[in-house]
This record gives sequence, C-alpha cells and structure tokens, in this order.
Amino acid sequence: MKILVINGPNLNMLGKRNEEIYGEKTLAEIDFIMQEQGKELKVEVVNFQSNSEGALIDFIQQQAGSADGIIINPGALTHYSFSLHDALADTQLPVIEVHLSNIYAREEWRADSVIAPAARGQICGLGWRGYIAALRALVAELKGENWL
Ligand code: DQA
Repeated sequence: MKILVINGPNLNMLGKRNEEIYGEKTLAEIDFIMQEQGKELKVEVVNFQSNSEGALIDFIQQQAGSADGIIINPGALTHYSFSLHDALADTQLPVIEVHLSNIYAREEWRADSVIAPAARGQICGLGWRGYIAALRALVAELKGENWL
C-alpha cells in the first residue's frame, strides 16, 4: 500500500513560520514522523513538498496510478486552486485534506476550501498530529479495519 503525503506552498518554512499558529516542528521532522508511522503500519509513505502549483499537479498526475491514497496540506492553495482540486478529483483516490491550524477560527477567507469537495475528509487544527491521524484513518479505511 502506498500513500502520498503532499505539502504545498510555504510549508517548507515550518518551524520558522508563525510558530504559535503552525507549531515548532519542521517539515523534515514531520516527514520523518510520517516515514516512521508508515513503517509501523507497513505502508509505503512518499513525501513531497513544492511551492509551485504546477509541480504539485505534475507530482499527483505522475504518482496517482501507483498510489492508494493521498494526504495533502495544500497551504494557501486550499482557498483558490481549482486546478489542484481537479487534479485530486481526477485521481479518484481517497484524499484527506490536512491543516495544522484551525482554518475556521482564523481570517474569514481561510474558512473556504475549494479542495474539500474533492476530499474524503478533512482534519484541521490538530497541528502535526493531524498528519498522523489522517494516515491512520486512511490506512484503516483502506484495510477495512476499525482503527490502527
Ligand atoms: C494551512 C492553512 C492555510 O490557510 C495556510 O495558507 C497555510 C497552512 C495550515 O496547515 O494550517 O499555508 O494549510
């Protein structure tokens, strides 16, 4: 089983960026945690980050055929990228949208996700643990188990 864990624009700056909102962990630390979780769950986790919308879409198109599910924090693309929505919808894979912060408790424009209609579900406001929750929920669902 292979799960893509994708992060969008500015998430490469985690650990240096608005720590009170996004937490102190760097993306490398979160990627490492997800690799360890993948080993524990016996699934392959492929991490990818880009600041470019096109590079994210290219990656999704290239990888979707060999993947079983997608976990994505689209960063600010969440709020306006119809092309990222379409790329995710076209994969027909289960997608979990993750946000470190609670996007419903911040500026009004953040409360709208154009990605959500293409997602199986959304986890937000749980910080880095949201990625783990997404992986465990997704893998449990794919394996038809209650919880892992
Ligand atoms: C974010 C929320 C977005 O509104 C913001 O643009 C980000 C990060 C989050 O993880 O909380 O870059 O997706």
